Amino acid sequence: MKRLVVFTGAGISAESGIKTFRDNGGLWEEHKIEDVATPQAWAKNPALVQEFYNQRRKNLLHAKPNAGHFAIAELQKYFNVHVITQNVDDLHERAGSEKVLHVHGELMKVRSCDYPELVYTLKGWEVKMGDKCERGSQLRPHIVWFGEMVPEMDNAIELVQQADIFIVAGTSLNVYPAANLLDYASADIPKFYIDPNPDLVYNFADITVIKKKAGNGLPDLADKLVKDFAT
Ligand code: OAD
Repeated sequence: MKRLVVFTGAGISAESGIKTFRDNGGLWEEHKIEDVATPQAWAKNPALVQEFYNQRRKNLLHAKPNAGHFAIAELQKYFNVHVITQNVDDLHERAGSEKVLHVHGELMKVRSCDYPELVYTLKGWEVKMGDKCERGSQLRPHIVWFGEMVPEMDNAIELVQQADIFIVAGTSLNVYPAANLLDYASADIPKFYIDPNPDLVYNFADITVIKKKAGNGLPDLADKLVKDFAT
């Protein structure tokens, strides 16, 4: 089976009712990054940071995967599919994708501030100040904040280097180092970028740009990939 790597961003979950960050009405219009998504924000006002992620989690619990997530999961019948996502939601997993690498963390997980190896999966949406790990240290969102290391980056690079086909979907490619991933794909493999408002600042010389939403663009592309490349 050919190895298909799919790199996704907030746009793939937009049709599931989860706000993107940089579109009109996106999350970074309502909230300042430096107030809610940095280690400095956590040091200054942790309750505000917890509340921001509690609201994201509450919203996620009501959301469902859309046709874009399902199309990727369906491709597992024909390809060795690896999803690399910048999204902190769990919609790829809920759609059935089995190999999902979260480069920016996971909303439904928290970890200990002092013992970062202690990571817990949540059932509900709310985490409060005073909620502690088994060793008595405060729990924080399991999210990669701006200014923090991206621990899964090397694994993501390795996956992209091994790709036979590469799809990028629903990301503005604004946030590094994740946006750099495109540079690691082999020059001679088929590459596709699906986004209704593609950021053409990037050098897309060898990438097929599909100006569509994920919900219809991905199912159409999946049909084409099965016809042209499945073995
Ligand atoms: P952005 O909000 O920067 O970009 C969303 C992209 O999705 C844009 O290019 C939109 O055109 C596109 N889009 C909107 N609706 C779509 C749809 N229905 N189908 C497909 N695409 C659609 O989100 P990201 O690129 O994911 O990091 O942002 C990257 C990172 O910045 C996030 O992981 C987050 C954020 O700050 C952290 O919080 C660490």
